[in-house]
Amino acid sequence: MRQIPLVIAHRGASAAYPEHSRSAYEKALTDGADGLECDVRLSRDGHLVLIHDRTLDRTSDQRGPVSQRSLAQLRDVDFGGEPILTLDDLIELARGADRPVRLLVETKHPNRYGKAVELRLLALLRKHGLDRPREDAPVQVTVMSFSPLAVRRVRALAPALPRVQLMDLIPPGLKPSRLPFGARIAGPGLELVRRRPDLVRRLKAQGNDIYVWTVNELRDVDLVVSLGVDAVITDRPGEVRSYLGV
Ligand code: G3P
Ligand code: CA
Repeated sequence: MRQIPLVIAHRGASAAYPEHSRSAYEKALTDGADGLECDVRLSRDGHLVLIHDRTLDRTSDQRGPVSQRSLAQLRDVDFGGEPILTLDDLIELARGADRPVRLLVETKHPNRYGKAVELRLLALLRKHGLDRPREDAPVQVTVMSFSPLAVRRVRALAPALPRVQLMDLIPPGLKPSRLPFGARIAGPGLELVRRRPDLVRRLKAQGNDIYVWTVNELRDVDLVVSLGVDAVITDRPGEVRSYLGV
């Protein structure tokens, strides 16, 4: 029997609502998503805010780098009719769900600001008692990064936290069967999976889990399910869940 993958909402149910917005995450929970994905960056005053890009330009009514605004200033920016969320806000939202929720946190700009992002992240998780996995926790946190350096930092700060090594290309020097720095979950992009399904098979055969992003077309759901992936990260969690029959 084929394994049914977890369905993770990419920036919330972001096909239906502004990405990273409260509406997008509430919709993802209503749709029954197993987990919520988010990107985090630091505000000027050191708060972790949910935004993908380095600047405000694409997703808001203002322009310029996120890192040059304080949280109070960012709270005044209009993101498609909604205010910015902090990671703290999202954790509170997830805690209020009627079931345990997975939270996949991707750290952005890990190379530019030293380990400030990971330090703030772990401090916040510690505050919520989420810095080590517990079966009875209302929120199960996994940290993700394209940067092996960031994955290594998370291992040093919180060895028990699950970590995803994201990859859009095969990282130079990666032995296809071994992830760097003790990550046990590989996060290949869909394009990489299409080009190199053998990589997925080999990583799985070595005991790694596979979380694929961003799977929005149903024919691609068929492909990744046939490869036995463990999670699909999608902008359309409701549609993907219906298609999977869950
Ligand atoms: O979930 C991983 C995926 O989000 C990575 O790509 O650019 O959407 O952050 P990106
Ligand atoms: Ca992301």
